[in-house]
Amino acid sequence: MTNPQDLIGHFSGGRVLDVATGSGAFIHFLLEGLKGYTEIIGIDTSERAAAPFAEAFKDNPRIRFEPMDATLMQFPDASFDTVCISNSLHHFDHPEAVLSEMLRVLRPGGHFILSEMYRDRQTETQMTHVLLHHWWAAVDRACGIVHHDTYSREQLVGMFTGLGLENPVVHHLSDTEDDPKQPENLTGLESVIDRYIQRAEGHPDLQARGEVLRQRMHHIGFHGAASLLAIGTKTG
Ligand SMILES: C[S@@+](CC[C@H](N)C(=O)[O-])C[C@H]1O[C@@H](n2cnc3c(N)ncnc32)[C@H](O)[C@@H]1O
Repeated sequence: MTNPQDLIGHFSGGRVLDVATGSGAFIHFLLEGLKGYTEIIGIDTSERAAAPFAEAFKDNPRIRFEPMDATLMQFPDASFDTVCISNSLHHFDHPEAVLSEMLRVLRPGGHFILSEMYRDRQTETQMTHVLLHHWWAAVDRACGIVHHDTYSREQLVGMFTGLGLENPVVHHLSDTEDDPKQPENLTGLESVIDRYIQRAEGHPDLQARGEVLRQRMHHIGFHGAASLLAIGTKTG
């Protein structure tokens, strides 16, 4: 597995914004990897995210959550030294609106970090994750939540390149070393599958799709999907 310090340990984050932070999973990666930081703010529109976020970072007064729409941020221009978005671009109808807001609030010379799993170039065990993820997205959509299938690697590289950042570096992260049938992992996924089958009540086609994926998971196994981690600095 790649060490976060090898990816982002060459700079200090300063004032950091984590966009669509959820419960703050990417902030753990930032804390492990960054050379340092002064403050980290996570924003999200989900009220349900605030409580687990607060619990995760309750001992760290330099990390806080703000409820905010990523497409209409209330921060001034150039007010962050680092902006990040992880595994969230496919949760927006217009990802370009989020990326442009992120660029607006980033100061010239500041770091932009884009992290996102993709849907292609995966092993069979990683493909289990992609297919499960696309099913979770379909169940979310059936419940009225914006959640698209994940992008291809080429689409993500294109979005990142389109930002016109300086010193762009694109990493492709993939870890298939663990046992793909590790019982603790499969048990955890079983309960996620059960939860989504319950949520898909009234949609027998979606429920049946979940059962097929459950069988695939036990038959083929599961690894986290390969993802892109791209870093660049804002011009100016
Ligand atoms: C997969 S989750 C979070 C992933 C998290 N960043 C991580 O790396 O684990 C995607 C998040 O996008 C958030 N989201 C969706 N639309 C949003 C919006 N308009 N503004 C801010 N957050 C939004 C959702 O509430 C959800 O928490």
